[in-house]
Amino acid sequence: MNDSYLNFVNSPFGARLARSLGLPKPEVLHRYRADQPEFGGMVALGAGREPHLLEALANLVASIGVTSVAHESAGLWVPLANRRGLMTGRFEAADGGSHGRLAALLFDASGIEDSSQLEPLHGFFHDTLRSLGKCGRIVVLGRPPESCANPRQWTAQRALEGLTRSLGKEARRGITSNLVYVERGAESGIEATLRFFLSPRSAYVSGQVVRIGCVNESSTANSPALPSSAFDWAQPLAGRRAVVTGAARGIGAAIASALAAEGAHVIGVDIPSARDALEATLRQLNGTALAFDIAAPEAPAQIAAALDEQGVDIVVHNAGITKDKTIAKMTDAAWQHVIDINLSAQERIDDALLAAGILRDGGRIVTVSSISGIAGNLGQTNYATSKAGVIGRVQSMAPHLRARGITINAVAPGFIETQMTAKIPLAIREAGRRMNSMSQGGQPVDVAQTIAWLAHPGSAGVSGQIVRVCGQSLIGA
Ligand SMILES: NC(=O)c1ccc[n+]([C@@H]2O[C@H](COP(=O)([O-])OP(=O)(O)OC[C@H]3O[C@@H](n4cnc5c(N)ncnc54)[C@H](O)[C@@H]3O)[C@@H](O)[C@H]2O)c1
Repeated sequence: MNDSYLNFVNSPFGARLARSLGLPKPEVLHRYRADQPEFGGMVALGAGREPHLLEALANLVASIGVTSVAHESAGLWVPLANRRGLMTGRFEAADGGSHGRLAALLFDASGIEDSSQLEPLHGFFHDTLRSLGKCGRIVVLGRPPESCANPRQWTAQRALEGLTRSLGKEARRGITSNLVYVERGAESGIEATLRFFLSPRSAYVSGQVVRIGCVNESSTANSPALPSSAFDWAQPLAGRRAVVTGAARGIGAAIASALAAEGAHVIGVDIPSARDALEATLRQLNGTALAFDIAAPEAPAQIAAALDEQGVDIVVHNAGITKDKTIAKMTDAAWQHVIDINLSAQERIDDALLAAGILRDGGRIVTVSSISGIAGNLGQTNYATSKAGVIGRVQSMAPHLRARGITINAVAPGFIETQMTAKIPLAIREAGRRMNSMSQGGQPVDVAQTIAWLAHPGSAGVSGQIVRVCGQSLIGA
């Protein structure tokens, strides 16, 4: 759907009018395009005491080919980068006023062990934030608080959340700010996640906290389809098969397209009445269309039978419906229908695919929740119940699937421009669009790219996570 306000305030006349009336001016977000370089410009590095992740960051900087500058807090960076032959220099605080010079700010806070050691964060962001360009990226790296050795360290690491989320709210201009907690021993598994958060692919993902854990390498060793380390960054899903429910339109069609662009063979599922749209979408992607109702009792067996011979590596549970009414007016059928399609059907399908080994070891399950499942919403008791249940599924299943190297994660979209949100009354729709740090709704591709990152072979250490794709919505924040 078209956001006419965003288009208007980004026209020369509209921009002048918005400025004179003090109206918000949402930035036109810089999104990933296959015909444009994904990374470029200069990254500023900062660090707290005894940073543990600089080696891993040097690997990343070398791999994505950006230049770097070290803030005075990251004294170790320049010799390290020089040893690695990376283009680097020192960030001069006097340059603080040169707007737009930097593409990203990276801060390694992994060594901070006490609240008294948080000061370098202030120094770094105080000096550099004004130099960060439009749609720039902020990533802070730390250690998972719950893995810390003592309460002081836990406290200091947990404090990073407040900083990161506040930076997202202050920075505006399409800038995102996210926090990545890296478990000790998981340092070699950070690249796919950092690439995502530094890329235009994460244009509408801000204020999020993601944990990267250690990978049980032996669990993926027997899976010829999913080598845990060797993949091509341009086609990371080459040779993989992915099933996507609700693929005929909206977010599901965008997911199918994003996974196919990464090299996957996509099997799209949708209801029989959407068969034409489903077949048209999958034809364009050289994929396979399966016209089933996922909530039908025979659906798990039908999907299992359709996938059986070659199995599947990625399962994306996207199909979902709304039937909004306040609970006093909601019929039993409206309640049951929403819970069944949005939640119970996923459980039945996963049970069938996992029990028969059709979802291969080292595989990925990604499910679509909603910020309604986090915050609740008036008129959506059924929907919010189903979407909170999806979060419960992720949290409860992740530890059990670990032994097989299978990850399970959820994305929780905020306001995304689709036919589902086009049905919302205008005033509520407009509020939903603007109540976030980006002052605009997201696009289906924003959810799709987030799912592609979670489905990536390099995301083996990311499991049990709920990632909001909401432009840092104020709802449920
Ligand atoms: N659009 C948003 O702002 C938003 C926000 C939060 C969460 N979500 C979630 O994202 C997902 C996709 O939403 P969307 O906006 O693209 O919706 P949409 O209505 O445009 O598309 C949903 C698709 O799912 C299919 N589907 C519905 N019931 C099915 C069934 N029983 N079996 C098979 N397919 C079925 C539909 O035919 C349709 O193609 C949903 O789970 C939704 O709850 C959307």
